[in-house]
Amino acid sequence: MTTHTQIPPAKRLLRTLNGEALWPPPMWLMRQAGRFLPEFRAMRAQADFLTRCMTPDIATELTLQPIRRFGMDGAILFSDILILPWAMGQSLRFVAGTGPVLGAIRSEQDLNALDPARIAEVTAPVLETLSRLNAILNGPDSIGAAAPGATTLIGFTGSPFTVACYMVEGKGSREFATTRQMAFCEPKLFGRLMDLLTQTTADYLCAQIAAGAEAVMLFDSWAGLLPPDEFRRHVIAPTRQIVQAIKARYPHVRVVGFPRLGGVMIGEYARETGVDVVALDTGADMRVVRDMVPAHIGLQGNLDPVAVLAGGEAMRAEALNIREAGRGRAHVFNLGHGVIPETPVEHVVDLVRTVRETA
Ligand code: CP3
Repeated sequence: MTTHTQIPPAKRLLRTLNGEALWPPPMWLMRQAGRFLPEFRAMRAQADFLTRCMTPDIATELTLQPIRRFGMDGAILFSDILILPWAMGQSLRFVAGTGPVLGAIRSEQDLNALDPARIAEVTAPVLETLSRLNAILNGPDSIGAAAPGATTLIGFTGSPFTVACYMVEGKGSREFATTRQMAFCEPKLFGRLMDLLTQTTADYLCAQIAAGAEAVMLFDSWAGLLPPDEFRRHVIAPTRQIVQAIKARYPHVRVVGFPRLGGVMIGEYARETGVDVVALDTGADMRVVRDMVPAHIGLQGNLDPVAVLAGGEAMRAEALNIREAGRGRAHVFNLGHGVIPETPVEHVVDLVRTVRETA
């Protein structure tokens, strides 16, 4: 266990991830580096999405944009959960209006064509971005609205199940029926894919930590599609393995897990996986969940992104309601899912002011 004295007092997010209940809570927003920012849209013309992820100058700048503007407590690396399968050789493009399109994995041959040995080399620019960001965020200068040394750098991956969903389906989907059918009908093939992802995800997160990530987050956006036993097999078990692998090498590094739409399984997820903080989706009532999740585990979330799109008094009231629901717990204020691209920047300014006002 890291003692709190080793964490600079200004790093409020990192202190919270280590179990301190701070008031007001630290905050950042999922998809804070994104299309709702005019300065982000201005840089979109320069390069396609993968190029932006793989060019340290650009990825560093995009990560810092929301820090400069809002002084968020967390800087999440500008990257994507699909970089990992792409780094193993799966084809990937991002099509405007459609989202990601991948060469679907449906057979042993497809799976055998993936090469995890390529990951280190292909992701080297991502690791370079993290080390630059760590130096900037912990350097002597303030970053716009953020005081020097106050921002925590967050690395991330998808969780094996959610990444497998995109790898097998080959695109986004509401139900990921092809993937879940594979899990039922071809358990050996699906199990091999899940094992590959569990191993490579753990290694990639460790590499991110070695490069400078100060905490890591696992996005399991589609966890809630699974029935209970499958949730245990494909969400809880691999997450536990990944957390164990990280803690074996970096015992002090904190892990946030986001089992989106996990519903009543959230308590078991919290108790069994070893994550330090559970990120809640919009529908999870924090006043209920705080009793399902052991007190030593933190909570993150979970304002409805639509409330921020709407703005005004409705947004402020709901933000204060969620802040209050987390009182006395280690709570990281965040959204229940990503910022919606059409969200007016002034609404986010107002949200930050509201969450940080003391009362
Ligand atoms: O600001 C941040 O949160 C950091 C960067 C980040 C991105 N994607 C950038 C991105 C993070 C943490 C993600 C996670 C991610 N990516 C998830 C998990 C979280 C969630 O939203 O459920 C998932 C499922 C993906 C896969 C993905 N990437 C999809 C489905 C899409 C297309 C839809 C969309 O939101 O645009 C992406 C593209 C993507 N990832 C963009 C960004 C900024 C948009 C690219 C662009 O058009 O410029």
